[in-house]
Amino acid sequence: MLNQIPEQTVLVTGANAGIGRATATELARAGMRVLMACRSAERGAEARAAVVAEVPGARTELLIADLSSGEGVRSLAAQTLQHTDRLDVLVNNAGVFTRQHVPTVDGLETQFAVNHLAPFLLTHLLRDLLVQSAPARVVTVSSEAHKRGQIRFDDLQGEQDYSGMKAYSQSKLANLLFNRELARRLGGTGVTANALHPGVIGTRLLFTGFAPLRLLRPFLKTPERGARTSVFLATVPAVERLTGLYFIDFEPARPSPAARDDGAARRLWRISAELTGMDPEENS
Ligand SMILES: NC(=O)c1ccc[n+]([C@@H]2O[C@H](COP(=O)([O-])OP(=O)(O)OC[C@H]3O[C@@H](n4cnc5c(N)ncnc54)[C@H](OP(=O)(O)O)[C@@H]3O)[C@@H](O)[C@H]2O)c1
Repeated sequence: MLNQIPEQTVLVTGANAGIGRATATELARAGMRVLMACRSAERGAEARAAVVAEVPGARTELLIADLSSGEGVRSLAAQTLQHTDRLDVLVNNAGVFTRQHVPTVDGLETQFAVNHLAPFLLTHLLRDLLVQSAPARVVTVSSEAHKRGQIRFDDLQGEQDYSGMKAYSQSKLANLLFNRELARRLGGTGVTANALHPGVIGTRLLFTGFAPLRLLRPFLKTPERGARTSVFLATVPAVERLTGLYFIDFEPARPSPAARDDGAARRLWRISAELTGMDPEENS
């Protein structure tokens, strides 16, 4: 049985599909007001209708933005500020896997932009709102794939050497370094930052990366299973004060040594700030 927390507002990115949609549904079931951030108005409307059908009385609103560009992320932050004067939880869930090197309109590599820079910039733009709403939480969906990752500071955008899996693993490692540095920078504000691995879940993203797994679909975990740790971190009172951690199946887990490298976390933060036009020293 979920805790009922009807006074709270949550923003979930990538809320129209897979784990994000299941997360939005469960948080609506907990009575939260759910801002569903989706790239496509059509897919978003369809997902919102499905959430309302499953959770009668669900309080959901749709925000539309493409998170592959700085402009899209800024638009999502602006829409959020227009819709709400409090934000108790931000769930950075949207993610993508691309086999080919796909440049974004900002000239960056798509997985780096969507999986890492978008949560980085969105969290920064919503920081004041989160702090005003404290106690508040930032939940970032990473992956065990981070263990294969390395931050290639000399080729972050994969221009010299690209593989879809290397870029994905790098972006999921970047999620953990971001979470670590974010938790440090949020110290004393009442806003916590935690990351998670959702499990190996039968979604479009997984099948884009590992096409043969399609055959195993009936045996893979469902998006609802994949949403459980996100929902746990977003709602459970017992984790309200925990921060800077990485969770798998409701338990803190030890990420790779590369994900515990504070120097790399600070260096990536500085570069990400430069790439998104933020001041790296702000709230340092
Ligand atoms: N599935 C797994 O086994 C697994 C394992 C570990 C971690 N994860 C992580 O879980 C998270 C959710 O993935 P999923 O498995 O649920 O994948 P999914 O079903 O493919 O859903 C991904 C979501 O992200 C959105 N998205 C992608 N690119 C976007 C963009 N440019 N702008 C805005 N939204 C965008 C998608 O919107 P559209 O529908 O418009 O594309 C969709 O809503 C990701 O961060 C992923 O890395 C998944």
